[in-house]
Amino acid sequence: MSQSYDVIVVGSGPGGYVAAIRSAQLGFKTAVIEREKVGGVCLNVGCIPSKAMIGAAHFLHKLEHDSKEMGIKVKGDVDVDMEQMQKWKQGVCDKMSGGVNQLLKGNKVTIVQGDATFKTTTSIEVKSSKGTETLTTKYFVVATGSRPIEIPGFKFDEKDVLSSTGALAQDEVPKKMVVIGGGYIGLEISSFMQKFGAEVHVLEAQDGLLTGMADPECIQVVQRKLKKSGVNLHFGAKAKSFKKSGKSLEVTFEKGGKEEKIKTDKILVTVGRKPNSDQANLKGIGLAIDERGFVKVNEQRRTSIPNIFAIGDIAGQPMLAHKASHEGVLVAEVIAGKNRVYDAKTVPAVIFVDPEIASAGWTEAECKANGHSDLKVAKFPFGANGKAVSMMETDGFVKMIADAKTHVLLGVHIVGPEASNLISEAVLAIEMGARLEDIALSIHPHPTLGETMMEAAEATLGHAIHIIQKPLGSATKRNGSGARA
Ligand code: NAI
Repeated sequence: MSQSYDVIVVGSGPGGYVAAIRSAQLGFKTAVIEREKVGGVCLNVGCIPSKAMIGAAHFLHKLEHDSKEMGIKVKGDVDVDMEQMQKWKQGVCDKMSGGVNQLLKGNKVTIVQGDATFKTTTSIEVKSSKGTETLTTKYFVVATGSRPIEIPGFKFDEKDVLSSTGALAQDEVPKKMVVIGGGYIGLEISSFMQKFGAEVHVLEAQDGLLTGMADPECIQVVQRKLKKSGVNLHFGAKAKSFKKSGKSLEVTFEKGGKEEKIKTDKILVTVGRKPNSDQANLKGIGLAIDERGFVKVNEQRRTSIPNIFAIGDIAGQPMLAHKASHEGVLVAEVIAGKNRVYDAKTVPAVIFVDPEIASAGWTEAECKANGHSDLKVAKFPFGANGKAVSMMETDGFVKMIADAKTHVLLGVHIVGPEASNLISEAVLAIEMGARLEDIALSIHPHPTLGETMMEAAEATLGHAIHIIQKPLGSATKRNGSGARA
């Protein structure tokens, strides 16, 4: 006899496991199906392991570059033991995945291990080494995520041609690495591999890094620092093919109409991710899928089949874990009959490069496209913040964009230390419809990086204390110390 549930969640990443826990909290008999490890890509082969590696690389960089000036003497060589680092990193992932397992069990969610295939709109078959079982349910939540895109001529084998998963599992630092794609993943991995000692070449098809993915001034800071630290950036460079001779690889790419070649030990391909909508027989049961491969959903994340919901990477951009988790709570509450829709004003985005880039709300171009032609824009530099100076991390700034008449905050773009943590204040401010004065008049603790938020709001109003500003003339206008940032 098949097991029957109220809610079955397919996929246990940050979308799926959150949906399952919230469903169980709301009193539903819930199961979650997972073919690999609980926690999905994010916890096991994505966000968490990459942050572990980035953290280790940052620590190494501080030891090698800042310690002497701080008066810390390192006796002997500082070296990277990649095998030990992999063990440590795996320990971090296992702890997180184990924690999610406990949370699911503690909430009485049944974890079904295996590969799921939809049979009908209310039943699903799960295959595992133990056999095949069929489960039935009133509601499904599809949270089956995305996978890296492959490009012709560069099939992932995780030995020579790596996806992000392979790059995060290296037992040795490659001497040389060619990274195809200068987006989120390519740059996060390039940053830490370079710090561990690899010679890194980034091939980016566009004219710059992270095109359209962040505020252009923030990107400039990162681009400059990457170049200065020795990462080789090749723009307008389209990877074509590679050849292997012995252990060495040679990548051919096209740049400015000419073919160029680079020898390398490893190739990392990070040209985007695609939704897993061609799997699990989603099309077979008639689920509507758009031309980019995303499952079509409405503002409650309901699909074209009313008892099936879809969340996370499979349900559209932005493909970010925190958006998936937000949707996980949302669909459980919608199933429970609560009056909820997806109405977030902003989904923050963080790129964990050096320094970090974080943003919430609109860029200046987006503000204008959305009808705000008269803007106040200013930056406050980390170089004028005591905590940042004491950390020896002064690259970057907080940039605020507000409507010139109402002073309502429209966008915050941070490049600098702990940008990832600082951005949450901006998210709250934007969600609450805050004005510049709300941030400027809130007392921020000293000495903290958080003061840069208060001072950026003051700078946008034209009167930050710790930078010299020109007197404010007409309302549009850019203020703050761009030059120092
Ligand atoms: P991406 O979309 O961020 O960047 C891909 C880059 O590859 C683009 O700049 C594109 O111009 C370039 N490209 C495409 N084809 C090329 C070719 N043949 N030769 C050279 N360059 C080429 O993709 P990525 O880095 O794989 O990340 C995928 C997604 O994963 C992101 O969009 C993001 O949603 C998510 N992610 C989020 C993270 C975070 O929140 N910190 C971290 C990692 C990934």
